[in-house]
Amino acid sequence: MKKALALILALAMVLALAACGGGTTQPAAPETPAAPATPAAPATPATPAAPATPAAPAAEAKTFKVGVAIYQFDDNFMTLYRNELLSYFESLNSDTVKYDVTIVDGKNDMAEQNNQIDNFITQGMDAIILNLVQTSSADAAIDKIVAAGIPLILINREPLGDNGDESYKGILDNATVCYVGADARQSGTYQGEIIRDLPNKGDVNGDGKVSYIMIEGDPENVDAQYRTQFSVKALTDAGITVECLDDQIGNWAQAKGQEICANDLAKYGDQVEVVFCNNDAMALGAATAITAAGRTVGENIYLVGVDALEECQQMVKDGTMTGTVLNDHIGQSHTAVDVTVKALNGEAIQNYYWVDYVKVTK
Ligand code: GAL
Repeated sequence: MKKALALILALAMVLALAACGGGTTQPAAPETPAAPATPAAPATPATPAAPATPAAPAAEAKTFKVGVAIYQFDDNFMTLYRNELLSYFESLNSDTVKYDVTIVDGKNDMAEQNNQIDNFITQGMDAIILNLVQTSSADAAIDKIVAAGIPLILINREPLGDNGDESYKGILDNATVCYVGADARQSGTYQGEIIRDLPNKGDVNGDGKVSYIMIEGDPENVDAQYRTQFSVKALTDAGITVECLDDQIGNWAQAKGQEICANDLAKYGDQVEVVFCNNDAMALGAATAITAAGRTVGENIYLVGVDALEECQQMVKDGTMTGTVLNDHIGQSHTAVDVTVKALNGEAIQNYYWVDYVKVTK
């Protein structure tokens, strides 16, 4: 009986073992949990830029204060001149140097311009560019500007020496004063030569003389005096007989030029063969009067001016003006600025700087 019991027990153990170990399918090993994604390595923080070496403090631009006094803004030629002067100064500004330019309108009033000069001195201008209202006031202006130790560049209106030549004591005596301009005699001579070189030498009606009217600028201005004198001289020097029908002052202004020319054409009619104008603005006015009077430039009358304003250059091309003379506002304004810069830099300057006129006939 005991043997049977032991046998049963042994058998039960084998079965139990079998139930525990073998025979049954092993449960799938639990999936190895995916390894947690390696967190992206934190972006290496950019190496902070080395603090910019503070730029060596830019050398402060040197600023020069320049005062420019124009005799009158309302003037065709001086408008071209002053605009060019300003833009040329501006083109010279750089990181190291600045030109602080103050430009004022004298309104053709010497008292007003005197105040402006006084203000420039009080404001401590480093240089003054002066287009005098009246050249007879040159000495007074030169004296106070020189006394203030400010270099002075006179432009456009040349003060004349007592003996009538271009050497002016106030300029010659002062190393820091100069005049930049064009020799008005040359412009007058060119006007006369334009007429002299016409096939009929300006004698439209063939009576052996050239009958003309002269329309003058401001008579105190040497440009007006010399152009009046030298235009006619170029004719007489060529042996041409001349007759002055009228000589009037148009003060450089177009409306005055028109009025004078209209009156003379009404008064002298066909006798007028040549209209000399000291500048183009007045010639523009004269051209209107000539057309209104039924006259034709190039056929029965001739017309000359000075400045070579753009509209006049076109008229010369079209034949509605006989000729003009280039008053080089670019050359003059640039020279004035260049000389000012020299003076500002303490360099020596000459007393006179001349810019040529150029004849314009086509
Ligand atoms: C002259 C010019 C004129 C007028 C005058 C002013 O040179 O021809 O048109 O501008 O200067 O002073």
